[in-house]
Amino acid sequence: MGYSDTYAQARDNPEEFWLQRAQLLDWYQTPERALSVDDNGMERWFADGVLNTCHNAVDRHVDAGRGQQVAVHYDSPVTGCRESITYSDLLSRVAATAGGLARMGVGKGDRVVIYMPMVPEAVIAMLACARLGAIHSVVFGGFAAAELAVRLTDAAPKVLLTATCGIEVSKIVPYLPIVTEALAMTALEGIEVVVLQRPQHSVAIEDSRFSSWADLSQGPPVACSPVAATDPLYVLYTSGTTGKPKGVVRDNGGHAVALAWSMAAVYGMAEGEVFWAASDIGWVVGHSYIVYAPLLAGCTTVLYEGKPVKTPDAGAFWRVVRDYQVKVLFAAPTAFRAIRKEDPHASRFADYDLDCLKALFLAGERLDPPTLEWLQSVTKRPVIDHWWQTETGWAIAGNPLGLELLPIKPGSASRPLPGYEIDILDGEGKPLPRGQEGAVAIRRPLPPACLPTLWGDQKRFQASYLDRFPGYYQTGDGGYIDADGYLFIMGRTDDVINVAGHRLSTGEMEEIIAGHPAVAECAVIGVADGLKGQVPMGFVVLKDTVELDSDELEAELIALVRSRVGPVACFNRALVAQRLPKTRSGKILRSTMRSIVDGRPWNMPATIEDPAALDEIMGLLGRLDRRQGP
Ligand code: COA
Ligand code: AMP
Repeated sequence: MGYSDTYAQARDNPEEFWLQRAQLLDWYQTPERALSVDDNGMERWFADGVLNTCHNAVDRHVDAGRGQQVAVHYDSPVTGCRESITYSDLLSRVAATAGGLARMGVGKGDRVVIYMPMVPEAVIAMLACARLGAIHSVVFGGFAAAELAVRLTDAAPKVLLTATCGIEVSKIVPYLPIVTEALAMTALEGIEVVVLQRPQHSVAIEDSRFSSWADLSQGPPVACSPVAATDPLYVLYTSGTTGKPKGVVRDNGGHAVALAWSMAAVYGMAEGEVFWAASDIGWVVGHSYIVYAPLLAGCTTVLYEGKPVKTPDAGAFWRVVRDYQVKVLFAAPTAFRAIRKEDPHASRFADYDLDCLKALFLAGERLDPPTLEWLQSVTKRPVIDHWWQTETGWAIAGNPLGLELLPIKPGSASRPLPGYEIDILDGEGKPLPRGQEGAVAIRRPLPPACLPTLWGDQKRFQASYLDRFPGYYQTGDGGYIDADGYLFIMGRTDDVINVAGHRLSTGEMEEIIAGHPAVAECAVIGVADGLKGQVPMGFVVLKDTVELDSDELEAELIALVRSRVGPVACFNRALVAQRLPKTRSGKILRSTMRSIVDGRPWNMPATIEDPAALDEIMGLLGRLDRRQGP
């Protein structure tokens, strides 16, 4: 069945459509109903179903006689290590690690925070939590102590799993000082920490709260615990508009069904084939398409600890595709911009026999047409942009290769995927005609895998996503649908930016900068960047009493944001202004500033209090251009 028929079936008869897809999995109790509504009035999937995600991702394939198939290829150019783990090996390691966690008192519903680099133990830990019905929360390794602390405080885990270090190209990033600082920042007591010693940075453990991974991984093997389909599998924190990240809750059943189906329908993958998502397990793409979806579908996944460039060079991705015979490669556009910058004529692509590679999928930010065209001309394969969010767990719009390859339109994330109905709304929540830009909203009910709530904060969930447009989920993205039904995502309409495929909050950076004693007020906006897509830029107004050299202040603010958010913030510019452009009611005109900075058309807002403030921003940017040189 092609795209249109499948889409119509999911829309017109979601009950039958999703119950059929549920048959892709093993259930202890097969769901009889697909869709129901919970006490908060939120749609829930397969509420009467009972399953275990780890069983479906691991044990099931061993039971089916495919234990000798490789489940995970670990490839780490930064350490020189490679390891191929079969489904049988994975099962024994996951069962023993789950036993180790159980021995520490971790059980159903308990939280386990995982702050780890891209090593097999991290994937094993995620699956071990799933095996027990415990809820994991993975924190990206590029976040600083304060970010880890806020997540620890919110998730209140029994156990924190970590390693002695991450490795950034050739730089060792020691984790334990970050972990120790984060533990000191949270008021929670009694969190036990398990440390994986890495040979690149071994540390003598003296803290009595810390124990060794060697013990954890040698627990008595445990079986899978049956959980309700609506029980949470994980909480993944993502940036919102304030300093407090949102804990996106993912359930077990809907997630497993949607992901298993997406492997075939969206990516055209079958059991035994090799899929590589070149992301990090700290992000949703890593959760869904490094770990869960490929394993649920019985594929082989690649866990790559390295960069697209410099590890060792711009041929890194092509080498991995060749070595593991990857059929579909999924990465962020920024990664290919980095490769293109180093190897504009793609000479390294030609170095490898890549017959195995059938398609490339991109997400995390809009696939800019120059990168699309470059990739198409280099690879001569379908290059597919698809749009999704941490909140949905899988693609909202895309080009479903497994159903049918639709014509590719540069700049578009293609069509809504089966299960999603998308409208473009005006400020009042009324659907706009084709071609007009507005707020991109998803009609409810949301399909399986989408978040049912935010961890411990139903009120924020309601306010962030549901209240503004009744009957819809508000995505926070702006865009339009063209005459052919293709969706064009034009960027966020809130204080969220995407830096090198990493989702960050400018609102949070503003809160941090506003805490500097010299700063009276500030605005942080995302500005276009040729490599990273967007980078944050700060504009600050100093207190009257302060006399500080602006370069000195800029250096202090850069260091402050780096120490609080982490190096991934890429906050490298803070300009001092005499005033910020505001409305008469005192609201900073961030969107107008964004348009000016990006060189997009804009009109002087009717409500502006002091038009000269905008002139000043333009003047600052003019000086900035001179400072940056040609
Ligand atoms: N642990 C510790 N530090 C990290 C880190 C991690 N996991 N990830 C990034 N950092 C650090 C980097 O070392 C760098 O530090 P520096 O300022 O001291 O140099 C800083 O954070 C910024 O990192 P990044 O923005 O990633 O820049 P980069 O130059 O190292 O790499 C890219 C640029 C484009 C190659 C890289 O960002 C990339 O591959 N992005 C794709 C991201 C992705 O897959 N996203 C998921 C969506 S699909
Ligand atoms: P994250 O939750 O980290 O996956 O980030 C989600 C946000 O990234 C979306 O709301 C979009 O703003 C942006 N995004 C992700 N994929 C795309 C895409 N293919 N096109 C445009 N924007 C995208």
